[in-house]
Amino acid sequence: MDQGSLLFSFGRAFLLIIFLSYMVCSIAESRAKPKVFNVMDYGAIANGKTDNSKAFLRAWREACEWEGKARVLIPQGTYMLYPVEFIGPCEGHMAFVIRGTLKAPSEAAQAGFYSAEKWINFRNVKGLGVGGGGTVDGQGAASWPLNDCGTNANCQTLPTTMRFDFVSNARIHHLKSIDSKSTHFTIFGCENLNITKVQISAPSDSPNTDGIKIGTSRHVGISRATIGTGDDCVSVLPGSSDIRISEVVCGPGHGISVGSLGKYVDEKDVRGVIVRNSSLRETSNGVRIKTWATDYASTASGFLFEDIVMDNVLNPITIDQNYCPHGACNQKASSHVQISNVVYKNIWGTSSSEVAVTLQCSESAPCNNIVLGNINLSYHGSGRAPSSHCSHVNGFSFGKQSPPSCL
Ligand SMILES: *[C@@H]1O[C@H](CO)[C@@H](O)[C@H](O)[C@H]1NC(C)=O
Ligand SMILES: *[C@@H]1O[C@H](CO)[C@@H](O)[C@H](O)[C@H]1NC(C)=O
Ligand SMILES: *[C@@H]1O[C@H](CO)[C@@H](O)[C@H](O)[C@H]1NC(C)=O
Repeated sequence: MDQGSLLFSFGRAFLLIIFLSYMVCSIAESRAKPKVFNVMDYGAIANGKTDNSKAFLRAWREACEWEGKARVLIPQGTYMLYPVEFIGPCEGHMAFVIRGTLKAPSEAAQAGFYSAEKWINFRNVKGLGVGGGGTVDGQGAASWPLNDCGTNANCQTLPTTMRFDFVSNARIHHLKSIDSKSTHFTIFGCENLNITKVQISAPSDSPNTDGIKIGTSRHVGISRATIGTGDDCVSVLPGSSDIRISEVVCGPGHGISVGSLGKYVDEKDVRGVIVRNSSLRETSNGVRIKTWATDYASTASGFLFEDIVMDNVLNPITIDQNYCPHGACNQKASSHVQISNVVYKNIWGTSSSEVAVTLQCSESAPCNNIVLGNINLSYHGSGRAPSSHCSHVNGFSFGKQSPPSCL
C-alpha cells in the first residue's frame, strides 16, 4: 500500500468515526429531548370556565402520532375540562405533564357527566408518564349528595377522576388529586405501573372517594403517597397480583384494603400483595381483607403487612369474611374466598377500639397459614390492654404479642 492510499483509508476511517459519533449523539439527544405539544398551541384557554377537552385531545392525538418521545404539556393556570379519553396505542413514549390545575365540571348530574363513569381516561397506552406537579380537582362536593350507594346496591357510580385501562410501563408521579366525585385513581387491566409521590385528599365524610383502586392488574407499585379520603386509601380488587405498597401515609379514611372480594361470580384470584413501611392515622381500619359471604369461590393468597404504624385506628388488623356494609345479607351464608399465607409483622401503635386484631374467617373456607409476628398495639386512651378475636383461622404467632395472640 503506498502512502497516498494509506492516508486515504485513514481519512475514511476518521470520517466514519465522526459520522458514528454524530449518530450516537443524535440518538442520545432524541432520547433526552422529547417533542413538546403544548395545549396552548391547540386552543386551550386557562380561564377556569371554558371546556378544554377538544384542545387537550388535539394535542394528545398529534403527540401520540409522533415517532419518538412526546410530551403533552399543560402549563400553569386553571383549566375547565369535561370528560376526556386519551387513547393509544401511540408511536412513542408519552408524557402527560400537568403543571396547572384541571377542574371537572362541578354540576355532576348535568352535562351528561353523571353517566361518564370517568373524568380523565388513559387507555391502551404502552409507555406513559403522568406527572408535572399539578392538580386534578374533581369538584365532587355538589355530587356527593347524589351518591346513594350506601342504601342502593345497584347505585350508579360517579366518575373516577383518573382512570387507566390497559396501560403498561407507566409512571404516575408528582400529582395532587382533590375532591374526586368518586374514586380518585382507578387502575384496571394494567401492567408494570408505578404511582409515586401523589397526594390525594377528600373530606372524611365524602362517600366512596377511594384513593387508589387496583383490579385485574399486575406488577403495580404505590410508594410515597399521602392519602386521606372518605373511603379506602388503597383498595386491591380481584385479579390483582404483585402489588407493592410502601411509604403510604393514610388517613382519614377506611384504611388499606384487599377487597371486597366474592361479590361477583367468576372473580379472578388475588395473589402477592405487600404493604410495608406505611402509617395509618385515625382511620376506621388499618390493614384489612374483606370478602362477602357468598358461594362465589376464588383465592386470595400471599400477603405481607410489615413495618406499619397505627395511630388511633379503630380496627388495626382485620380479616372480615362476612363483609356486609349495608345490612340485608344472608346471615347463614359463608364466604368461599380462600384466604391463605398472610403475614403481619412489626405492627405497632394504638387502637381506638378494644379489639385491635380481628381475624374473622369463613366456616366453609377457614384461613390458612396466618402469621402474627411482633405486634405491639395498645388501646388508646385507656389503661387496658386490647384484645384479639379469631374464628376459623389456622396459623401461628411469634415475638411480642399485644394484644395476646388468638392464634
Ligand atoms: C416500577 O418500580 C419497580 C420497582 O421499583 C421497577 O422495577 C420498575 O421498573 C418500575 N416500572 C416503571 C414503569 O417505572
Ligand atoms: C421507610 O420509610 C422511611 C421514611 O418514610 C424511609 O426513610 C425508609 O427508607 C423506608 N424504608 C424502606 C425499607 O422502604
Ligand atoms: C410496645 O409499645 C410500647 C409503647 O406503646 C413501648 O413502651 C414498648 O417498649 C413496646 N414494646 C416492644 C417490645 O417494642
